[in-house]
Amino acid sequence: MNNSSADIPPPKHVAIIMDGNGRWAKGRGLPRVAGHRQGAEAVRRVVETAGRLGVDYLTLFSFSSENWRRPEEEVRDLMGLLRRYLKSEIAELHKKNVRFKVIGERGRLDKDIQALVQDAEQMTAGNTQLTLSLALSYGGRAEIADAARRIAESVRLGLLDPAAIDETQFESYLWSVGLPDPDLLIRTSGEKRISNFLLWQCAYTEFYYTDVYWPDFDEAEFTAAIDDFRRRDRRFGATASYA
Ligand code: IPE
Ligand code: IPE
Ligand code: MG
Repeated sequence: MNNSSADIPPPKHVAIIMDGNGRWAKGRGLPRVAGHRQGAEAVRRVVETAGRLGVDYLTLFSFSSENWRRPEEEVRDLMGLLRRYLKSEIAELHKKNVRFKVIGERGRLDKDIQALVQDAEQMTAGNTQLTLSLALSYGGRAEIADAARRIAESVRLGLLDPAAIDETQFESYLWSVGLPDPDLLIRTSGEKRISNFLLWQCAYTEFYYTDVYWPDFDEAEFTAAIDDFRRRDRRFGATASYA
């Protein structure tokens, strides 16, 4: 079988671990917050580009459950940037027919941010061009444990038969319910680890690493990642396509 990239559609769902803001700033003798600010610009850019490249779902790791351990000042800066992003971008996203979602422990976010998120989700719920999900206070293990807890509760209430719990049923309890599994996971800044992102959902995801720091991730970088993806032979445990 011809495995040229023209035959292979672009990834439907791209997930990105946006890493390297701090090192980007350090290299320029700037405070870390300057890197995060520039990182927010890169988010605007990548959302624009995703539509053009034919991506239907874009999921961005914006703040992990473990990132709460960072110094108070940095957490405050990141939450401030998030607040600003939500206030300034949602109307624009809505205009561009983008559906906005948040996955994560939203109860840990400041109340006003929770309200902004809820409004944004409600306003954009019917949009169809692109689904943009921000992973905020997100941890893959926390998500799986939360699903297990709510499944146990359903069983206790007599609403669910333990014999009926299969993979599909389990997925319906994850925060990512309704999102297909990512086809491609990109991590910037040269790190090669998953850092507790989408542990359940990445069972058969293709991984792509680039040394570029997140604030420098642009259309050319995104295109390179997608071109690389299109040369992969995805097997899902079955026989290779060349066999
Ligand atoms: C990614 O950049 C942003 C968040 C994790 C919130 P980092 O802040 O992790 O940047 P480095 O890894 O220190 O360079
Ligand atoms: C992962 O990056 C989390 C986000 C990009 C939001 P980190 O910088 O927190 O990951 P580690 O600590 O290097 O694994
Ligand atoms: Mg980092």
